[in-house]
Amino acid sequence: MMKIVFKISLLALLFSIGSLLVYISKVSGDGMGLGIANPGSPHNFTDDLGHAELPAAGGWNFREEICRVCHVPHDHDRATDYGANGLLWNHQVSNATYVMYSSSTLNGTIASSPTGIAKMCLGCHDGTVGIDVFDSHTTATLFIADYEADHQVPGALFAGNLNRTHPISITYDEAADKNLRPKSTPMGTSGTIADVLEGGTTVQCHSCHDVHDQAGEAVPDTHLLRVSQKASQGQASGLCLTCHIK
Ligand code: HEC
Ligand code: HEC
Ligand code: HEC
Ligand code: HEC
Repeated sequence: MMKIVFKISLLALLFSIGSLLVYISKVSGDGMGLGIANPGSPHNFTDDLGHAELPAAGGWNFREEICRVCHVPHDHDRATDYGANGLLWNHQVSNATYVMYSSSTLNGTIASSPTGIAKMCLGCHDGTVGIDVFDSHTTATLFIADYEADHQVPGALFAGNLNRTHPISITYDEAADKNLRPKSTPMGTSGTIADVLEGGTTVQCHSCHDVHDQAGEAVPDTHLLRVSQKASQGQASGLCLTCHIK
């Protein structure tokens, strides 16, 4: 009898460890749609629960704040101005030169290099700038590939070449491209397409992703997407079909 009880509790223990591991890999893999302050949310760098591969929990974020890695309330006379793209930006941006997306069928106007919000994302995601280069912290020790090589955009093999990335810094020109839906079309639960275009006109990274992992914006269990791509979560390729009539 004792033996059976022991076996059952051992099984229960193994099950709990298993569930914990599933939880950890889940939080490291995807957004949760619960807000950036939630432990394990991909852009919450106070907490490295979701980044078990890294050393000390949040050790590089000496500020122990969530927002400060990206935004700062006052400029403290830093020699380098990170804020030129607005939004009180407090993270180094990339100096890389990119090849922009081009094709024979493109209708909208694409900038000659990434602009505005795309530049903010690429400051960590293009792999050339340290994640820990923010505020007055200038020594780079951690790069996107230290977290997840697959999260480098554009990927390492085509570094600097945005031809294999969905067009960014391009105008959403529904007059020129008849296969684009009107900007007044709902974008999941993030308002309308116009609401997720920078300045109401331009497709950027945040048009598809919600960096803050907010409830009612980012779909849980996706890469911070505003609309899921899975049939089981709505419609297959639902994000693409929100903007494109296909
Ligand atoms: C301060 C650096 C930094 C900035 C700025 C940043 N990211 Fe990230 N992002 C990261 C890191 C590091 C990860 C990897 C986290 C992990 O592996 O769990 C990540 C992960 C992601 C992921 C994958 C999330 C998942 O499902 O695991 C997406 C999508 C993403 N970022 C999009 C963006 C977009 C879009 C922007 C701009 C609007 C942006 N990021 C700005 C550092 C940054
Ligand atoms: C990893 C970088 C990152 C972190 C951390 C971050 N933000 Fe942002 N934030 C961005 C980017 C990029 C944008 C522009 C894209 C967008 O609006 O989705 C933005 C936009 C904003 C905006 C203006 C547009 C809007 O969504 O209302 C506010 C306000 C804001 N952030 C507040 C915060 C606060 C408060 C925190 C901390 C709780 C925070 N952010 C943490 C990257 C970040
Ligand atoms: C038109 C929509 C769209 C735009 C614009 C976009 N993404 Fe994505 N992104 C996606 C989708 C959809 C996925 C999920 C792909 C998958 O699961 O294979 C994704 C995945 C990712 C991932 C997870 C790793 C991967 O490659 O699957 C990261 C990180 C990311 N995007 C960052 C960015 C950054 C940074 C930008 C701007 C330079 C950007 N995205 C622009 C739609 C977009
Ligand atoms: C926020 C709206 C939006 C979303 C979401 C979106 N796109 Fe786009 N996409 C655009 C715009 C705008 C263009 C530029 C169209 C033009 O000007 O010809 C574009 C361009 C493209 C092009 C290049 C067309 C060409 O002529 O070279 C392809 C391919 C494409 N999108 C596929 C996708 C796929 C696949 C998805 C889903 C992963 C997606 N898009 C999601 C707005 C969006």
